[in-house]
Amino acid sequence: MNVLLLGSGGREHAFSLKISQSPELNKLFIAPGNAGTALHGTNVDLSPTNLEQVYQFCVENQIDLVVPGNEDPLVAGLVDYIEEKSTAAGLKMGVAGPSEWCARLEGSKDFAKAFMKKYEIPTAKYESFRLGDLKSASAFMKTLEPPYVLKADGLAAGKGVIITESLEEAEAVLKEMTDGSKFGKAGEVVVIEEFLKGIELSVFAVSDGDSWQILGSAKDYKRIFDGDQGPNTGGMGAISPVPFADAAFMEKVISRIVKPTFDGLKEEGHPYKGFLFVGLMNVAGDPMVIEYNVRMGDPETEAIFPRLNTPMLDMLTAIANGNLSAVKIDLKEETAATVFLVSGGYPGDIEKGKTILIPATYQWQTADNNKQWLFHAGTKMQGDDVVTNGGRVIAITSLGTDIANALSRSNEMAQSVQFEGKFHRKDIGLDLLKY
Ligand code: AMP
Ligand code: GLY
Repeated sequence: MNVLLLGSGGREHAFSLKISQSPELNKLFIAPGNAGTALHGTNVDLSPTNLEQVYQFCVENQIDLVVPGNEDPLVAGLVDYIEEKSTAAGLKMGVAGPSEWCARLEGSKDFAKAFMKKYEIPTAKYESFRLGDLKSASAFMKTLEPPYVLKADGLAAGKGVIITESLEEAEAVLKEMTDGSKFGKAGEVVVIEEFLKGIELSVFAVSDGDSWQILGSAKDYKRIFDGDQGPNTGGMGAISPVPFADAAFMEKVISRIVKPTFDGLKEEGHPYKGFLFVGLMNVAGDPMVIEYNVRMGDPETEAIFPRLNTPMLDMLTAIANGNLSAVKIDLKEETAATVFLVSGGYPGDIEKGKTILIPATYQWQTADNNKQWLFHAGTKMQGDDVVTNGGRVIAITSLGTDIANALSRSNEMAQSVQFEGKFHRKDIGLDLLKY
């Protein structure tokens, strides 16, 4: 089987490693990939949102399965495009991702909120406002208690959410949002919602449009500094599973959220195919949805996939071809702790091109045996050197008997990878020790 994987993060290195371990694999291509994905396949210079370019590559390289890693091509309609064109050409090409219609769960916060309201899926109370609607938006905001939560409707690379205690600041942001000067097109609709107090986690599920299964739970650490201080990042580490997401809590997540979501999408005539990432707030034991993402998370994937016993290509082809009920998702009981090594200055300005030194014993082949993995994210080859090529550089995952054990092993491994300006959090998961 020939596979094309789209993306270039730690998530895609984790996908490529797992795909490369499947006996059915013939060729794996990754677009655009990184120095880690190049260990498992061939990196190719394609733009994942250039749908025609992706399709032509698939035709020329007899691709059987396309695996989109990040949301941009999904929201741009990649799945419909490839399915329609390949079917018309009489080719058999599967795509393990949701349709453009379903991808709006991530691509439009207003769409996602309206969907949840219709299917009575627990989420924060909200209202949406269009450009120029400052007066009514401001009036609604004042009916809520601070902190105020303002969200740009469209994709804004994780920067479209503003949470502030200050009514003055909220009003100023709202003004910029509703006159169109902030977030541009992504901000044409603004969602204002109630602040949810609790502890966040994410639950992942896979579906083939007919049946679905839970993949696992994870907790992401978004702030740059220990103790959840400092600015937001793409994610500085993750833990899986989440200890408070026990059987009783997961039963609530499934019956109140996951099942009604997949059922609701079917009822709308748009059954969901692919990975579904449900961002949740545990509000005093009750799960509420913060957001949907229509893909796996990064770094959550780097924490969950090392726990996965299910052969990756079995799962991906089952998602694409509609026979997921024949595949059993099976996870190791052990805890995974993922720690991201980032470039100095991240999430602000960073310098790229720093040489990365990885001890030979920690190359992925041997690390795998030791229940440790090193996933490349912002890296690339420069001659014979691996150099930094982004803010988040390398994700290190260890499996352990518990969080403390897994974390200490990841932190130790983090010490032995060197590059100028390297920084990482040392407290990933420590807040969960009390559960
Ligand atoms: P989102 O892009 O919708 O996931 O929001 C980004 C982050 O803002 C989330 O991960 C939460 O930490 C926070 N957040 C979003 N919505 C709310 C809310 N209604 N209440 C509390 N925190 C929120
Ligand atoms: N780690 C959060 C995300 O992938 O969106």
